[in-house]
Amino acid sequence: MKQLHREVARRRTFGIISHPDAGKTTLTEKLLLFGGAIRLAGAVKSKKAQHATSDWMAVERERGISVTSSVMKFEYEGYEINLLDTPGHQDFSEDTYRVLTAVDSVVMVIDSVKGVETQTKKLMEVCRMRSTPIMTFINKMDRDGRSPLELLDDIEQTLGIEAAPLTWPIGMGKDFKGVYDLRKHELRFFVPAGAKSALPKETVLVSGLDDPLLDELVGSADADSLRRDVELLAGAGYPFDIDRYLQGSQTPVFFGSALSNFGVQELLDTFVLLAPSPRPRAAESRMVSPLEEGFTGMVFKVQANMDPAHRDRIAFLRICSGRFVRGMKVRHHRLGKDIQINNATIFMAQDREGVEQAWPGDIIGIQNHGTIKIGDSFSTDHAPLKFTGIPSFAPEHFRRVRLLDPLRSKQLEKGLKQLSEEGAIQVFRPLLSADYILGAVGPLQFEVTMLRLKGEYKVDAAYEGLGICSVRWIAGGSDAPRFLERYAADIAKDIDGDKVYLVKSLWGLEHVQESFPNLDLRTVKEHR
Ligand code: G4P
Repeated sequence: MKQLHREVARRRTFGIISHPDAGKTTLTEKLLLFGGAIRLAGAVKSKKAQHATSDWMAVERERGISVTSSVMKFEYEGYEINLLDTPGHQDFSEDTYRVLTAVDSVVMVIDSVKGVETQTKKLMEVCRMRSTPIMTFINKMDRDGRSPLELLDDIEQTLGIEAAPLTWPIGMGKDFKGVYDLRKHELRFFVPAGAKSALPKETVLVSGLDDPLLDELVGSADADSLRRDVELLAGAGYPFDIDRYLQGSQTPVFFGSALSNFGVQELLDTFVLLAPSPRPRAAESRMVSPLEEGFTGMVFKVQANMDPAHRDRIAFLRICSGRFVRGMKVRHHRLGKDIQINNATIFMAQDREGVEQAWPGDIIGIQNHGTIKIGDSFSTDHAPLKFTGIPSFAPEHFRRVRLLDPLRSKQLEKGLKQLSEEGAIQVFRPLLSADYILGAVGPLQFEVTMLRLKGEYKVDAAYEGLGICSVRWIAGGSDAPRFLERYAADIAKDIDGDKVYLVKSLWGLEHVQESFPNLDLRTVKEHR
């Protein structure tokens, strides 16, 4: 089927990772402008809605925004690009991690003043687990930041990945003049909007770094400094190697300023050329190639509908192979049932459109009433299929839920079950008590959970702190039965009924590991 090959080859599905304030929103907006998906800058997100999280309306609004901007699809130079938003901007949730399991590559934004920051590090760990190719954009070159060599060193040391610059900055901050394209030997100049500058607006080709035109255009001091840097790079840096990029062990680096729309087009042009098209996906029994004619897909995200009166939820399904057509009957493998997908939606920058057909790498949203969970696999074929690689991470924050109105316990159970199926929080039930223990990757999730319990399930509850610092999934081992008996009071079940050890202190965890050498404890769990 030639069309399938063509559609796969021209698709790019990616996410942007960054620490808050590095410029993800600004870059997203500029990319969408190039794709013609939005006409006005400033349309992607209202910052105010992101910050205000303490009242119910704001949470609703934020969810509204995150539903419509979850997947931004645009076309550029004949490529179909799906940009998946990595949510949890001010805070962190598992959702953020899971979205990264649905992309084929990422763009990492780094603030030139701050270098690599904590959130980027965490997100990078997820990329490393899957060897996701990463392209880097060092942003805010119009500010006085760290030296470019120092920034590359930071990426290499902190993130453990080779950094191979494709452009190199000339000056920075007020003296930022532009970039030198190391492969094409082109100079592109930075002329901020409204500023008077003698620098040419168009790209200038030089014969190499020895070209005297370079001195003429940027001055001898900057020209010499560029020559020195490039010489240093030739000796100590990494030359760009596409295979190493595609394996996730090297990141090509661009320098620019998203706000001034400088360096963004080079990034996009290089991205569509080099970034991988939809890659094969691992299922339990085999690898699924995107070029297989039979349709397959997996759900990586579930989100409640914006209208709290309806319990509808949207499951976000990534197409892994074949063609999807509206009204298609597919096998829901976890339930062992066929379902018909009539109401799929595709997400544009602002609107959703009904989908008639979609291809590998595309994301479709399916309305459902709770029959679809994160990790569910679908296919036209009935042969058993279970995509792997959608993890749950051991939460780092915990609260016990105290129900204020004991007559609402059924609603509490239902609410927590549904919220945990969406992946916002994890719920644990200790074996020896009737408590609900909530775990989250970021503490903001507790606030959101409480507001939604009240708003959607009419449950009044409060939180109590408790002395748990982490959990470990108990995956087996010959010492497991002995451990479960001895530590029964510290064991709970997660939403799937899998047993976890509630870790009270890291010291205690070490002690357990020493006392039970054949106990398999895990920080990550794959969804079944
Ligand atoms: P985020 O989504 O990663 O959190 O970052 P966002 O794009 O919202 O950018 C964070 C701040 O950094 C914004 O300023 C934005 O204007 C600024 N910024 C982004 N790119 C550049 C750049 O290339 N150069 C400079 N100098 N600044 C940049 P803000 O004042 O927090 O918000 P706003 O009021 O401008 O929206």
